[in-house]
Amino acid sequence: MAKSAFLKSSIAKKYWMALTGLFLCLFLVGHLIGNLQLFKSGYEGALQFNKYALFMTTNPLIKIMSYVTYISILFHAIDGIYLAIQNKKARPVAYAMNNSSANTSFSSRNMAVLGTLVLFFIATHMINFWAKMKFGTGMPLLVKEIVDPNVGAKQYMLIATPESPQQNVPVQGPVFDNNILKKQPIADIYIDGNKIVNKKNNDVLFEGYKDLHKLTISFFKSKARLFNVIPNEGLVFTIFYVLSMAILGFHLWHGFQSAFQSLGINNKFTPAIKTFGKLFSVIVPILFAIIPVYIHFILK
Ligand code: HEM
Repeated sequence: MAKSAFLKSSIAKKYWMALTGLFLCLFLVGHLIGNLQLFKSGYEGALQFNKYALFMTTNPLIKIMSYVTYISILFHAIDGIYLAIQNKKARPVAYAMNNSSANTSFSSRNMAVLGTLVLFFIATHMINFWAKMKFGTGMPLLVKEIVDPNVGAKQYMLIATPESPQQNVPVQGPVFDNNILKKQPIADIYIDGNKIVNKKNNDVLFEGYKDLHKLTISFFKSKARLFNVIPNEGLVFTIFYVLSMAILGFHLWHGFQSAFQSLGINNKFTPAIKTFGKLFSVIVPILFAIIPVYIHFILK
């Protein structure tokens, strides 16, 4: 590629990296606020978090934002790797007078490595939470206690039935033997969001949520052996999350302010942007890291 064409394409790439990076910072704030609900304990806390998760996975606007997030992660990562390789090719020999640690920060010298580690974290994180929520068939369910009019006793109900008339049932699971639905002709019910309702009197027969709350708590509290070898996997995951958040912090330390530079924003607000970026890169990862630490060590 001609030098000027390379420069042009790499400037465009930096621009996109900056935009996607800043969008991902916004995602982090939203995700953090959602996750802070995990500090609310008990049934009410679980219900609130699971209602929030249902909203986040079904609201059409949020769905669009989610796709923008996935595309941004991919774009940001691929662009970053490409730019790092191009930079290495353009400067195959390190500067003779290289005293890089004096000129640049640890973060700025290691953006590609830090970014790759963050990407590794996101991949494992999405396998453990997002994929289970979206595709997992063995999700635990948080179900509303209801009174079965035929038996008069409280029963715990699961929300979907294999013979369910609609495909978009919010949660799926096996049906208990003495399930109230078995006593209800399927024609007499309809599904409304996460509820199963009696057509005749609009009584809510079922209300249930995929129990993402329970999944998250048991993930960090698990005493099982990781890969059947390493004991106390909950502790391993907690340490992995804390280390990953430190790495994220270093990535953001340089990345936040660098994004504004790449966008050519250089004015009287630049010092304030730099300070805000540094505060952001410390506070956001610390708040994220406190969540698994709290769940593993403090939550009863
Ligand atoms: C320790 C803190 C964290 C906890 C407890 C946590 C928890 C979760 C949970 C439960 C989900 C599934 C939500 C759903 O599918 O509805 C999720 C999704 C996700 N998380 Fe996290 N998360 C944490 C930190 C992070 C961080 C630091 C990042 C990015 C660097 C991240 C990136 C994502 C992404 C990209 C998704 C998919 C979002 C979507 O589908 O829109 N998470 N997280």
